[in-house]
Amino acid sequence: MSTSDFAFYLQWSKLLCQFLDMHQPLMDSYIIEYFTESHWNKLPNSWQVSLSKISLQGFCHQMLKIDSPSLNIDQSHSKCTAVILPLSLLAFSATAASLSYPYTPIDDKDTIEPLGGGGRACEYGSQVSGLSHLFRRHVKPKKQHEIKELAKIINEVCENTKCCNVIDLGCGQGHLSRYLAYHYQLNVIAVEAVSCHLKTALLYDKQITADIEKTFKNDETKKGNISYIEQMIDPEAGPEEVMSLFLSSESKKREEYVLVGLHTCGNLSTTMLRLFSESESITGLVSVGCCYMKLFKTEEPHLPSGYPMSSSLANHRLSYEARELACHSKEVYMKRLQEGSDHLKIHSWRAALEIIFKKNGLRRPQLKIPKRVSKLPFNNYAAAVLQSVNVSHLNESDMVMINQLIDDQWQNIVMYFLLRLVIAPCIETLILLDRLLFLKEKNIKCSLQPVFNPLVSPRNLVLTALK
Ligand SMILES: C[S@@+](CC[C@H](N)C(=O)[O-])C[C@H]1O[C@@H](n2cnc3c(N)ncnc32)[C@H](O)[C@@H]1O
Repeated sequence: MSTSDFAFYLQWSKLLCQFLDMHQPLMDSYIIEYFTESHWNKLPNSWQVSLSKISLQGFCHQMLKIDSPSLNIDQSHSKCTAVILPLSLLAFSATAASLSYPYTPIDDKDTIEPLGGGGRACEYGSQVSGLSHLFRRHVKPKKQHEIKELAKIINEVCENTKCCNVIDLGCGQGHLSRYLAYHYQLNVIAVEAVSCHLKTALLYDKQITADIEKTFKNDETKKGNISYIEQMIDPEAGPEEVMSLFLSSESKKREEYVLVGLHTCGNLSTTMLRLFSESESITGLVSVGCCYMKLFKTEEPHLPSGYPMSSSLANHRLSYEARELACHSKEVYMKRLQEGSDHLKIHSWRAALEIIFKKNGLRRPQLKIPKRVSKLPFNNYAAAVLQSVNVSHLNESDMVMINQLIDDQWQNIVMYFLLRLVIAPCIETLILLDRLLFLKEKNIKCSLQPVFNPLVSPRNLVLTALK
């Protein structure tokens, strides 16, 4: 490890800790408690004053550096696009941008249409170019993009480590494993806890092998090798125990492996890192994490810590809310902004109903309501939400009070949410830098790079490591 390299990442992480700790109330707040916890009033006074004057369009331009003529968000003509924002607010946004890992889009972003078309392209099934039809069947365009880009990196790591064996942890329905095996001819051990995913994976394999035989006739080079293992990887198990779950002792001695995981949620990513750092037979790592809120808390000392992992940040803490915020994406929310104000009001609706929950002795109750409910008019939405937690429907005066609050404040709620989004990439950066530091403390060569198009796949930072 170069000392300067380690010192650079350490200093960056410390600055992030300092910056995030300064903005802890914003980072740790729930938007649904906007009214009940008076979040707006906790912002610095100068921020409240200027943000009340600026339009959402102006806010996006000045704070998020996003200009889009198609933003369909401004209903209030009393607000201005150009307001001189306080220096502390501009410094907040500039510092957040400079401390976040650059999420630069990949070179071949033309494979999927940009934002607006981008999201829809994924939802409505436009296909990723440069990926054979064999690997597109049953695979959504977002996943097509991810497997194509990640497999290139995995193949490079395999070449660098002269290793053709891959362990794909949390393989789901095996889309990545299948592409690695049949396109790159790697030997893949695909591990998954949920049996129905593996049943589907086996079915898709059967179809692809039949197609490959038809397409390539007797070309042996086009045949890959995947073995599936149904196994829940225990984060507390040691490396030997985990490896012996799916490898015979013979192959453990003889073979080396590259460990990979695409969107391994919560602790599966940190388990992978520990396994890689401790197991002699694993020589390479390619990891893309997600669902940071599911990481083990440090208050559970019997469990391996999810954040921080490194000794360098041992005393730092990130709350559940902060780790949940790290999974949000400015790019995805911008798509919502383009869809218009009705769609944006949902946060204010939910926040307003929290007032009624509080009156009934409830706090942030888990709502089990169908998705379509959020598309109903407010009255019907409120009735469905309240009924789902056995709270009686709004009386006349509550209805008037809530409608007034929503009308007056929904734009402030959107802005409050956007302020939180400004720091979201800083939290993700800190979590991933902690993982780099964990590896670097062990003298392992590792790096982070943005690989997926963030408009298509916001968790786009890939950690690679070589021993
Ligand atoms: C977000 S999905 C990603 C699936 C796949 N890698 C992909 O990108 O399509 C995460 C997968 O990891 C599996 N998983 C989570 N924790 C696991 C564990 N401890 N052991 C094995 N599989 C696990 C889940 O069941 C799920 O299928």
